[in-house]
Amino acid sequence: MQVFIVYAHPSEESFTRHIRDHFIKGLESAGHSYIESDLYKMNFRTDMSETEYLREAYYKREASVPADVIAEQEKINSSGAIAFIFPLFWSDAPAKLVGWFDRVWTYGFAYGENRTMKQLEKGMVLCSAGNTMEYFHRTGIMGALEKVMLDDRLFDRVKTRELVIFDGTSRETPLREQNRASHLERAFQLGAQCGLPSIP
Ligand SMILES: Cc1cc2nc3c(=O)[nH]c(=O)nc-3n(C[C@H](O)[C@H](O)[C@H](O)COP(=O)(O)O)c2cc1C
Repeated sequence: MQVFIVYAHPSEESFTRHIRDHFIKGLESAGHSYIESDLYKMNFRTDMSETEYLREAYYKREASVPADVIAEQEKINSSGAIAFIFPLFWSDAPAKLVGWFDRVWTYGFAYGENRTMKQLEKGMVLCSAGNTMEYFHRTGIMGALEKVMLDDRLFDRVKTRELVIFDGTSRETPLREQNRASHLERAFQLGAQCGLPSIP
C-alpha cells in the first residue's frame, strides 16, 4: 500500500523528525511505499487567497482550485492511507498543517456533493508533545484533539483512524530521553502495521 505522509516540522533537528524516520522504516519493513509532503521544506502556502475563500464559502463556486492544492489532492487519491506527523503547537497542529487543511480540503473534493476524494483505508495522526498523557487526559485536551483531528478533519474520509501522541518530548524534561526508545519503537510499529485496522 502507498502511504501519503503529510509532515509538518520546521526543523530537521527534532525528535519529531526521528518519529517520521522510524515510521518510514516501519512502513518499508512491511513492504509499503510512501510519498510525502514536507510542508515547511516545500514552503507550502497555508493562507487562503481571497478567491479560495470565496469559493469555499459559497460566494464564488466557479473559481478554480489552485495547482498546488490539486497536486496535494492527487497525492491523496493515489494513496491507500494518510499519515500526519507533527509537533503539538498550542494544543493543535502547527499553523502550517492547519492551513493545509484549510486549502486542500476543498468543496467538491473533501466535502459537499459528489466528493472526489477517495475514502482511504486508514488515517493516522502521529503527534509529538512536550506534556504528558496524564496531562492531556486530565485537561480534556486529548478528547479535544480526537474530536478535531479524527472526528472532524479525518471523519469518514478514512475507514479507520488513529491518533497517537508521543508525549514528554520537551527538551527541558528528562522524560524525553526516558521515553525515546519506546516512542521510536512505537513509531516503527505503527509504520509496519499501517495496513491493519486500528486497535480500539
Ligand atoms: C510554539 C510551540 C507551541 C507548543 N505547544 C505545545 C502544547 O500546546 N502542548 C505540548 O504538549 N507541547 C507543546 N510544544 C512542544 C512541542 O510539541 C515539542 O517541541 C515537541 O513535542 C518535541 O520537540 P521536537 O520534535 O521539536 O524536538 C510546543 C512547542 C512550540 C515550539
